Amino acid sequence: MTKKTSTDWEQHYQEENTPWDKGQAAPGLTAFLKKQTPQGRILVPGCGLGHDVRELSAAGGDDAEVIGLDLAPTAMARANEIIKVGREQFVTGDFFDLPDDLRGSFDWIWEHTCFCAIDPDLRKKYVQASADALKIDGKLLAVFYLDPYDEEHTPGEGPPHGCSLEELAELFRHQFNFIEHWQPDHAYPGRENKELMMILQKR
Ligand SMILES: C[S@@+](CC[C@H](N)C(=O)[O-])C[C@H]1O[C@@H](n2cnc3c(N)ncnc32)[C@H](O)[C@@H]1O
Repeated sequence: MTKKTSTDWEQHYQEENTPWDKGQAAPGLTAFLKKQTPQGRILVPGCGLGHDVRELSAAGGDDAEVIGLDLAPTAMARANEIIKVGREQFVTGDFFDLPDDLRGSFDWIWEHTCFCAIDPDLRKKYVQASADALKIDGKLLAVFYLDPYDEEHTPGEGPPHGCSLEELAELFRHQFNFIEHWQPDHAYPGRENKELMMILQKR
């Protein structure tokens, strides 16, 4: 992503201007899945073309029902054109306005570059949307892009928006318990040492 990234996500997909899309699942997720396999119902908000959705679906097999959600209809149409690896589904929709049948139904959420894409003013709403989507004791597994800044992209411009561990702790502590966090050993080129993985559990 560059400082020119707008939040007209549908337009980005229509114009195939999606620099965040690396054509493969997040390396931190792939590494995590070698140690632990989320099962049950899994939501991937802001899933884009669905690389992470397919990674989770392939790992979980019949024990995982992975739903990728994205605002952009073109992203969901393109994700649906890719051959299925398991029981994954793609739904066009707004994470902040989940359909009733999805609310309170998830065992896991996988967060990757949705939190950093939304306006920082909406972060409390993001936490509430996560809590609304999960079952009690459900887990939010996340790779947070703490520091997306460089010479060309500075704080206060468009997405991606950075955050700190302290901010995350303050945002999530009201509804979630912190299970663990770690710096991923593997990252896309350019994101090394700029991400933080975390597991939070809904109370
Ligand atoms: C930077 S892109 C990342 C896409 C994907 N996670 C990836 O890494 O390729 C952010 C995505 O979040 C989606 N998005 C933004 N706000 C959303 C919302 N409120 N509900 C669902 N999806 C949203 C956008 O359409 C876009 O596909």
